[in-house]
Amino acid sequence: MSTVQFVLDGQAIEAQDGQTILKAAEAAGVYIPHLCAFKDLIPHGSCRVCSVRVNGRIQAACVQTVTAGAVVESETPEILEFRRNIIDMLFAEGNHFCMFCEKSGNCELQALAYRFGITSPRYDYLNPDRDIDMSHPDVYLDRNRCILCGRCVRVSQEVDHKTIFQFVGRGHEKRLQVNGTCLADTELSATDEAVAACPVGALMPKRVGYAIPVGQRAFDAAPIGADVDARKGGAA
Ligand code: SF4
Ligand code: FES
Repeated sequence: MSTVQFVLDGQAIEAQDGQTILKAAEAAGVYIPHLCAFKDLIPHGSCRVCSVRVNGRIQAACVQTVTAGAVVESETPEILEFRRNIIDMLFAEGNHFCMFCEKSGNCELQALAYRFGITSPRYDYLNPDRDIDMSHPDVYLDRNRCILCGRCVRVSQEVDHKTIFQFVGRGHEKRLQVNGTCLADTELSATDEAVAACPVGALMPKRVGYAIPVGQRAFDAAPIGADVDARKGGAA
């Protein structure tokens, strides 16, 4: 595969032709925060946490492919504030009370908040009261914590080869729905990759709460992005 060069925050980076900016940056040891992008899934481009400026225009790094000579800005005060604002709004839009959530320490939204230095809400909480689906024997779905990233939808289809989830409604009314009357009606298994792919505490296995004590979880050990930063020897 041919390669192209582009510039990321002043650093020349060689990337594979057709690679996204997010993947090319990661390969070069530069972490670009992201939420809806996940491993090798077809990118969704919905959360905009990965926003960068490409030749002066705001683009989503997870969907935008590199072009030769492109000038990409990621860690500028403007872009950092843009991302921080999105994370702040996600916290206000759902019920994310980390101290009471089993995902705490493994939650990517919480970890991003720490990375961005968010310690208190900037916006008023909307305090939604959405349906919680406890019908399945092994998995529950708390829509009040769902950030509509679509990972479960895509992983269920592309990796688990099932079609358990879909979105319904638009705008403020958009919700994650299951293809059946409730989770118990679906062929979801607690071991499905879709369950593990949820970045927050919305889709969770039952009866394993606190099996790993708080303080010994993924982001207790290392901040989000530290694995990518470490490739370049940088700090998190
Ligand atoms: Fe994303 Fe989790 Fe909501 Fe699925 S349940 S859309 S993975 S936040
Ligand atoms: Fe790129 Fe969500 S990670 S838009």
